[in-house]
Amino acid sequence: MTDFNFIQMADPQVGMYARFAGMDSETIADFQKHGMNVKPAPKMNSNSMEPERKNLTTALDEFDKIDPAFVVVCGDMVNEFDNEYQKKLIRETLGEYGKTTPVHWVAGNHDIGVNNLIPDRDSVSAYRDEFGADYYEFSHGESKFIILNSVLLDRPQNIPDEHKLQMDFLGDTLRSRESKDAEHVVAFMHHPLFLDNANEEDVDFSWAPSPGNQPTGYWTVPLERRTPVVKLLREANVQTVFAGHWHRNHLASDNGLDVVVTSALGYPLGDDPSGYRVVSLSEGKLTHQFRAI
Ligand SMILES: [Fe+2]
Repeated sequence: MTDFNFIQMADPQVGMYARFAGMDSETIADFQKHGMNVKPAPKMNSNSMEPERKNLTTALDEFDKIDPAFVVVCGDMVNEFDNEYQKKLIRETLGEYGKTTPVHWVAGNHDIGVNNLIPDRDSVSAYRDEFGADYYEFSHGESKFIILNSVLLDRPQNIPDEHKLQMDFLGDTLRSRESKDAEHVVAFMHHPLFLDNANEEDVDFSWAPSPGNQPTGYWTVPLERRTPVVKLLREANVQTVFAGHWHRNHLASDNGLDVVVTSALGYPLGDDPSGYRVVSLSEGKLTHQFRAI
């Protein structure tokens, strides 16, 4: 049995602090009405990424002491995918760190969705050029790790063939001999699969309303495409799916399947601070702990 730690983080979302700075009180009140804890902040230069740079470098300094086996970044690496400055900061920080410790990227809606929502062939291709594959698997120790593109699960309408390929990949991977023999099979995606239970409808909970300018059910994978994923995960005895997107910590558990949502490494939208999660696989058990930065 191999014991090790890894880091799971989400939403470093470089550029979001500047985007959310300098708002008037009416706009802030509207965000707060939709459950997003936006705080008043003086206007910043739109290219200022100092808060994100500070969060990233603080986290990376701490990783040096933790010495994780690998890092998984659960999406929204940047706020605007066409902003070269934002991508450059990710390359200079997590990208550099990845030269010595594997860094696994997960596609977020801000990385791969047109208008931060719906992926198409070009947006998927641009993402793959920058970050590599958007769904794949890897092994470490005796465990199997699966990276999924939940933006595609959320809105596959422009590239249904890609959705089918990803579902085939998930089924094939989970049914493989390697997965069957694995000590743990752990999945990662950007969107939480669900926020309360696996059968929840695509409606907003009062405690998790969608942002005012976004469709209902913005925070999770829709039921229609969640159900086949949950079925495959259950058949393979997957117990933990890590996610981000909501920019706050949350645990949803349904009949042995845990969805672990981690606050943003970048701009937090709930009461939890910015931070990351340390996941330990020790003596056959998976445990995890959030660490604020
Ligand atoms: Fe995000």
